[in-house]
Amino acid sequence: METRVLIMQLAYLLSAVLFIFGLKRLSHPDTARGGNRLAAVGMLLAIVATLGGGQILTWQWIIAGLLIGGISGGFMARLVKMTAMPQMVGMFNGFGGLASGLVAAAEFLRYSLGVAGTADVPLDGSISIMLGTLIGAVTFSGSMVAFGKLQGIVTEKAVKFKGQQFLNASLFLGIIAVMVYLVLMTPGAIVASNPGTVDLLYYVLWVAAMLLGVLLVIPIGGADMPVVVSLLNSYSGLAASAAGFVLSNNALIISGALVGASGLILTRIMCKAMNRSLANVIFGTFGQTTGKVLVKGEKRTMADVNDVQPDDVAMLLAYAKQVVIVPGYGLAVAQAQHKLRELCDNLEHRGVNVKYVVHPVAGRMPGHMNVLLAEANVPYNQLYEPEDVNPDIANVDACLVVGANDVVNPAARDEPSSDLYGMPIIEVDRAKHCVVMKRSLNPGFAGVDNELFYLRNTMMLFGDAADSIGRILEEVKQL
Ligand code: TAP
Repeated sequence: METRVLIMQLAYLLSAVLFIFGLKRLSHPDTARGGNRLAAVGMLLAIVATLGGGQILTWQWIIAGLLIGGISGGFMARLVKMTAMPQMVGMFNGFGGLASGLVAAAEFLRYSLGVAGTADVPLDGSISIMLGTLIGAVTFSGSMVAFGKLQGIVTEKAVKFKGQQFLNASLFLGIIAVMVYLVLMTPGAIVASNPGTVDLLYYVLWVAAMLLGVLLVIPIGGADMPVVVSLLNSYSGLAASAAGFVLSNNALIISGALVGASGLILTRIMCKAMNRSLANVIFGTFGQTTGKVLVKGEKRTMADVNDVQPDDVAMLLAYAKQVVIVPGYGLAVAQAQHKLRELCDNLEHRGVNVKYVVHPVAGRMPGHMNVLLAEANVPYNQLYEPEDVNPDIANVDACLVVGANDVVNPAARDEPSSDLYGMPIIEVDRAKHCVVMKRSLNPGFAGVDNELFYLRNTMMLFGDAADSIGRILEEVKQL
């Protein structure tokens, strides 16, 4: 093996090791930043090794790509709001899939146009090209629909029609048939007699795979899009892996496989945290209705709630022994994390024991609340999981629910008829007192009304969470 290639392969091996250690360190908030840096160094090493490997055709394209990608990525990272992260991740997955599909297409054309110097595509090469094309195209179009749904450009409702599953299955089988035909008849076998047919069929494969991506995602409701984005993330990894096989690039094969596996694990964790199966996410119609009648009793109104003011809450918190904070999606919308930390610090200085309890699916993406709280430098040792506090929650003096709703809905525990039934919750309704901060009585993401708001030990503090916390803090300082 040429020395340069050997060095490149060794660098790939080292970068794969760095990816694996990086991923391992991502599993704990304390080590996550370091893990991210480690994986980034691994990626830089893989890029430098590839560029120095002597297999680059033209530098102009690479530099142009780096500039366009780097500048637009930098702008997006700065401009996109935290609450719009899921759709941004969705878009990234889509572009990852498209890039892998285009690598496969370029390789196909290299043979088909005779640039490869031979028309004989090796069997493993043609299988990789077809798989890369299929997974890449499905990931791209599926992710674009997911992005559109999350962004509100495409209807959030599940689009279902008669014979949909039959159509999807037929399309999938048709695609497999075209792929098998193309693998058997790849340019080498047919180029002399009928070159147009293979090229045409390859383009048909692209269109059919893109259509399949759209058809697979449209029947899934907006409420389940974060899970779909995570699944598509896994597909984008598989597409990258297929592209790695196409290019015989070990770094791409390994990193793609890692993304594929971690995306799948994440999808499983999200489904488990919502007590749903993946099949239920893909074929069910979760969260289709909004503002459903409350599970117990009549539809309630503002008159039925215990509406409080910031000074009441300040009093309750300042003289409590133990306070549990439950952050939810509203914390991200209000960007109230810094004020929340300030309030909690103040309470701690007064001798109150404060715990932040983070539900695995609070917010709109995995780790959403952890990211917000880390941004405000909340110490990791103050973060708890629901199962750490639920057993003893009856002894907690006050639970402060900051813009959370579904993750504290008792119907998930008590009402078998509820869409949320079975999802583990933070049982704030069992605490001595519970303060819920939100702007209205509207339901959360799942569209299920919440009996918690009407319980005797619940106080509702209406308004934007950042504003409310600011006012509570002012009151606490006066006490
Ligand atoms: P939600 O149930 O969506 O409730 C968020 C609440 O925040 C809303 O009821 C809203 O009420 C309130 N809110 C919005 N803006 C606010 C503001 N500026 N100030 C104060 N409150 C505000 O959130 P959750 O409890 O975090 O639950 C997450 C949901 O997303 C679950 O159903 C979960 O299954 C789903 N989900 C999450 C993920 C991940 S990975 N996190 C993935 C898939 C699905 P108002 O409008 O009345 O203010």
